[in-house]
Amino acid sequence: MSLLGYIAAAVGFYVFIYYTFLRRTRCKSLVKLYGKTAIVTGSNTGIGKATALALAKRGARVILACRSRGRADAAVYDIRRESGNQQVLFMALDLSSLQSVRDFVQTFLKTEPRLDFLINNAGVTGEGRTREGFGLEFGVNHLGHFLLTLLLLDRLKQCAPSRIVTLASIAHYGGHIDFSLLDQTKDVVTERKLLKRFWDYSTSKLCNMLFTRELANRLEGTNVSCFSVHPGLVRTKLTRTMSGLLAAVLSKLFFLEPEEGAQTTLHCVLQEGLEPFSGRYFSNCALAQGSAKSRDDALAKKLWEVSERLVGI
Ligand SMILES: NC(=O)c1ccc[n+]([C@@H]2O[C@H](COP(=O)([O-])OP(=O)(O)OC[C@H]3O[C@@H](n4cnc5c(N)ncnc54)[C@H](OP(=O)(O)O)[C@@H]3O)[C@@H](O)[C@H]2O)c1
Ligand SMILES: *[C@@H]1O[C@H](CO)[C@@H](O)[C@H](O)[C@H]1NC(C)=O
Repeated sequence: MSLLGYIAAAVGFYVFIYYTFLRRTRCKSLVKLYGKTAIVTGSNTGIGKATALALAKRGARVILACRSRGRADAAVYDIRRESGNQQVLFMALDLSSLQSVRDFVQTFLKTEPRLDFLINNAGVTGEGRTREGFGLEFGVNHLGHFLLTLLLLDRLKQCAPSRIVTLASIAHYGGHIDFSLLDQTKDVVTERKLLKRFWDYSTSKLCNMLFTRELANRLEGTNVSCFSVHPGLVRTKLTRTMSGLLAAVLSKLFFLEPEEGAQTTLHCVLQEGLEPFSGRYFSNCALAQGSAKSRDDALAKKLWEVSERLVGI
């Protein structure tokens, strides 16, 4: 191939990547949120912080549900200053402990009269176990948010129309749930599998989508709607493994900024008329389809029943 050929191929490849992963679509809604309350989990950094800031700018009361008071206080300070909205506050939530989830909900319900938007944004990758011994990614990304949402449902129903947005990922395509492992390993991905970390993360994101799907079925007739989201490929703590000048250039070319990565979440929170699509998956501020597994209603129902048992509801 000639030099020109290589250049053309490289440009073509980038255009493909750009349109597949990097389209900078924006939430177009102009809705204001005065008098509304939102919870954003994992909002001290990354996409969650950008989401919390955008909601605060629109006038919402925003609860930063985070595990570290120090990191969250810094974010509260930044968001108040940038939005001019003082109704931004921290409440302790560690999703790797079901007791912490229960404590958070108790504090929240006691001190806050409303809940209009629940944004299940926090996410981890990595090895480890939750307080109750579950695989870290399954436990934090799925089970913690599962229990949190269930315990907050009555309040969301009282404040309907209200919405629940859960951050999934395009990585859910690699997900595979093996329920038979649960009794032995308290996880749904086998320990020995190659690239375990990737499968674990993918599977937890598949769980986020199946959860949203079954939740929508159970919420029919309540005016509470729920959506799952792929935020795009976003430069955050989760994806920040490179450093240096080349890395800076590459990350400009191949990653979105957190503020851009928050747009699809904002679309699902703010856009009018999405109720008929409750339970569905969004990407680039638009309805998307997701893998066949993520649309398997029997699997979604099974996961729900198993999760109820695991969190003790
Ligand atoms: N970045 C991407 O390209 C990408 C792509 C697809 C999907 N997503 C999804 O988008 C969401 C946000 O990701 P991000 O990229 O913004 O990640 P991030 O920068 O790593 O932020 C993750 C947030 O989750 C919090 N968190 C982690 N473990 C927690 C726990 N046990 N309890 C409470 N909070 C906890 C973190 O708190 P600490 O600061 O205390 O650790 C942090 O606030 C995740 O659900 C992720 O799966 C991201
Ligand atoms: C849902 O919203 C519609 C339209 O606002 C309303 O008529 C209906 O009573 C609501 N249903 C519930 C269960 O709140």
